[in-house]
Amino acid sequence: MTAIATEDLLRADGVTVRFGGLTALDDVGLRVAPGTVVGLIGPNGAGKTTLFNVLSGVLRPTAGSLTWKGRTVSGQKSHRLARAGISRTFQGLNLFHKMTVLDNVVAGADRLARGGPLSLLTGFGHHHRDEAELRDRALAALERFGIAGTAHHYPSTLPYGIQKQVALARACVGAPELLLLDEPASGLSGKQLDDLAAQIRGLSEDMAVVLVEHHMDLVMEVCDHIVVLNFGKVISTGTPDEVRADPAVMQAYLGTAERSGR
Ligand SMILES: Nc1ncnc2c1ncn2[C@@H]1O[C@H](COP(=O)(O)OP(=O)(O)OP(=O)(O)O)[C@@H](O)[C@H]1O
Ligand SMILES: [Mg+2]
Repeated sequence: MTAIATEDLLRADGVTVRFGGLTALDDVGLRVAPGTVVGLIGPNGAGKTTLFNVLSGVLRPTAGSLTWKGRTVSGQKSHRLARAGISRTFQGLNLFHKMTVLDNVVAGADRLARGGPLSLLTGFGHHHRDEAELRDRALAALERFGIAGTAHHYPSTLPYGIQKQVALARACVGAPELLLLDEPASGLSGKQLDDLAAQIRGLSEDMAVVLVEHHMDLVMEVCDHIVVLNFGKVISTGTPDEVRADPAVMQAYLGTAERSGR
């Protein structure tokens, strides 16, 4: 049998981020293959969100490189990476509270607009055909997440779990090839967590996913591969079973519990 080399969709090498005297990321590498769900875990302050900020072009690393589909994209800004197919959610909801749910999701479809990025929001290069198409897409995304009935509501009037779904719909509506999810399960419980696990598996049929989460059951259930950060360094990588059995991972989490007096 001939082995077929599958190219990584995204690859980060030697990523280092310093904030003044603090090294938030120290020579971090990450590879994401198409169609996989990669878990990025680690105690509070480990550097997970900082890595997402680098991967989505929000933050330029002090050192290191980013490769998207074999081409270097180091230093590219967030709108360029979004246009290339990298989408993300934020640790907070980051919804536009003065816009309806539908308009929030339309804003996420921006990369598909022919008028160019932000054309719908700014009116510059605006096409009416775009607007109708993107609204249809946004409605379809809301339907996919079972929240079409909220389209004309304002996000802050909705329960937190529904707002999380709006954020997810906004991140997915542009048909990204890579979706970065920063704590999608925070504030959810019970059936909402089960539904989220099924949704993430469903999404991974269309796109690769990197999942930052503290809910270990969810991470172990949905991830193909896991990378563990602690104090900005990768301390373990492997399958869920390999990472679960790694004493270094246990130690990192115990150390956190001891530090915080839990
Ligand atoms: N803009 C910034 N300026 C200075 N320090 C920062 C900045 N952003 C993050 N840090 C620091 O970098 C480290 C990593 O933070 P980061 O938010 O990436 O952690 P995290 O793994 O996402 O944690 P959590 O699980 O709590 O969300 C922390 O010590 C944090 O205080
Ligand atoms: Mg974080």
